[in-house]
Amino acid sequence: MSIALLAGPPAVQGIERYADHQRRLGALPPATELIGSIERSALRGKGGAAFPVATKWRSVASQRAGTPVVLANGGEGEPLSRKDRMLMEQRPHLVIDGALLAANAVGANDIVLYVGADHAGAIQTMQRAVSERPGTERARLRLVSAPVRYVSGEETAAVHFVNAGIALPTSIPPRPYERGVDGRPTLVQNVETLAHVALIARFGDEWYRSLGVAGASGTTLVTVGGAVPQTVLIEIHQGMTLADAVNVAGGITSDSDAVLLGGYFGGWIQSGAAWGLSLDADPLHRLGHSLGCGVVAVLPSGRCGVIETARILAYLAHESARQCGPCTFGLRAISAAAGRIAGLTSTPGDLERVQRWSGLLAGRGACHHPDGAAGLLASALHVFSGEFTLHDDQRRCSIVNTQAVA
Ligand SMILES: Cc1cc2nc3c(=O)[nH]c(=O)nc-3n(C[C@H](O)[C@H](O)[C@H](O)COP(=O)(O)O)c2cc1C
Ligand code: SF4
Repeated sequence: MSIALLAGPPAVQGIERYADHQRRLGALPPATELIGSIERSALRGKGGAAFPVATKWRSVASQRAGTPVVLANGGEGEPLSRKDRMLMEQRPHLVIDGALLAANAVGANDIVLYVGADHAGAIQTMQRAVSERPGTERARLRLVSAPVRYVSGEETAAVHFVNAGIALPTSIPPRPYERGVDGRPTLVQNVETLAHVALIARFGDEWYRSLGVAGASGTTLVTVGGAVPQTVLIEIHQGMTLADAVNVAGGITSDSDAVLLGGYFGGWIQSGAAWGLSLDADPLHRLGHSLGCGVVAVLPSGRCGVIETARILAYLAHESARQCGPCTFGLRAISAAAGRIAGLTSTPGDLERVQRWSGLLAGRGACHHPDGAAGLLASALHVFSGEFTLHDDQRRCSIVNTQAVA
């Protein structure tokens, strides 16, 4: 499904050149009045937290300590997501347009394009796209390749890497919008968010709002994986149901008891409750869910939710920056206990400890890494409660499990 961001020539025709991009969409419009238009469009950040974009732009523009910088975040460390790298590969000039417009709107000159080092295709396309831009724009753009690590895309880690070559989160305050790259106010915005800006600036907020359904605004990129024919990137009308999104991805290939919504920082939802959910930040938030970075992973029949959860926790514990107690000790201990439960080797009290500790992790680290893990675990303990008890009490798994979700 290609509605707005992915509309235009299909990927098989190769990367869209700058001249073709301009012929198709017109020249870069001025950024005057853009913040108001972005506000009316109700655009939210697409990197995970769905923060209102215009609010962040106003905060950056109102800072007095130095000329702002824009950091386009294409780190995409989430293992289940493909959207940012594929967007950069397919529509690099939309991302660059959005970054330039954001810079013009907040009074920034310099732009850092921060791309995950393992996204080789995206790095190549972005490099070529930068080289095609006029000299005045090229001079403002700097491509930085981000270390391959889950926390590299966290905004303070990204700023830390650009400043000092260390992709680890730093304590806040100051937040990047106050003091970021070179100590200057820095607008950190996900690359998909910026690509939406490029279209809103051209076609207007009313047009953008009209793309949403069920009261939502605009479109959003979703990576659908798990029990579907293949992991696929789709663009959906924001507000579409999860069932519709899965159907666009080719439909489910097996029965499924649960869906992981939002990726490793998201949460498990029982399939029965999941299919009718409207994929939009506010209605999801009211139900305690999040679209996160746009991941829908359908758990195939034959996979055990307890084992999948333990595997994800082990990954998150390993990927922590090990700078704060909650990650270094708490997340590691939870992951170890969850691993024992999953592996049918639990020791007395493991399940009770995991339940208790999950409530103690959130809000305790320098960054939101442990919060994400705690949310995922809490959802798993709810959705797979029977299976957790079976594993822990009877040392039995009701499902034969051999592979990961995606
Ligand atoms: C552990 C962790 C990893 C993150 N990784 C990414 C990432 O890879 N890409 C991204 O855009 N945002 C990531 N974020 C969110 C960023 O900190 C930041 O909120 C985002 O880039 C802001 O852009 P947005 O408002 O357009 O979403 C991560 C956050 C956390 C806590
Ligand atoms: S909370 Fe975890 S990931 Fe975040 S800075 Fe502390 S140790 Fe690193």
